[in-house]
Amino acid sequence: MVIAIDGPGGVGKSTVSRRVAAALGVPHFDTGSTYRVTGLVALRSGADLNDPQAVLTAIGTPRIDIEDGVVMVDGEDVTEAIRSGPIAAAASTVATHPEVRRRIVAWQRSWVDHHGGNAVVEGRDIGTVVFPDAPLKIYLTARPEVRAERRSGDSEAAGKSTAEIATELAARDHTDSTRKASPLRPAEDAVIIDTSDLSIDAVVQQILDLADGIG
Ligand code: DC
Repeated sequence: MVIAIDGPGGVGKSTVSRRVAAALGVPHFDTGSTYRVTGLVALRSGADLNDPQAVLTAIGTPRIDIEDGVVMVDGEDVTEAIRSGPIAAAASTVATHPEVRRRIVAWQRSWVDHHGGNAVVEGRDIGTVVFPDAPLKIYLTARPEVRAERRSGDSEAAGKSTAEIATELAARDHTDSTRKASPLRPAEDAVIIDTSDLSIDAVVQQILDLADGIG
């Protein structure tokens, strides 16, 4: 079964998703990395990020593999490279195009298929679009200042003040939640967890209890 974990940046999504997957012994799939690697490949090829056809052409050529959180492009490990600020911005831009999303969503579904159909899948639209039939959908939130504080530990945020990070998060939230194609929002049947005042352990336990409940 698929456990969908959605929410904006800085809510603890990746840490929580990885831990839930490890506890259940199933693969963890960070779908943000599919948009990030698309942004990286498009930027490197010189494609206009605002031109969906150019982006699709750019990602049609290289061999892209995602396995155990390691992202490879034609045999080159780009796991670290896709964590930079410019790539995050590029990912957010390419993710606005419905044509690009369709291609990436098909890739995400086939990734889960190839891994036996059981996975913890984290992203923005997993419960609403990619796996609308997932038996367990979680939507994580947190107060803006808590999210900025948490993001300050990421490599993407190196050298930036918490105020700068908060501004960037707000800009990305705006792009992600106001885009026409699959905007960031909780699925109607998602369990919403505000992680602001909870430990990682507590959030993970809450999700494991919910997973237990659906067998
Ligand atoms: O979670 P992240 O920061 O790695 O995501 C990078 C970008 O990709 C983010 O701006 C939103 C987009 N994204 C998306 O549109 N849908 C997803 N399922 C995952 C990420």
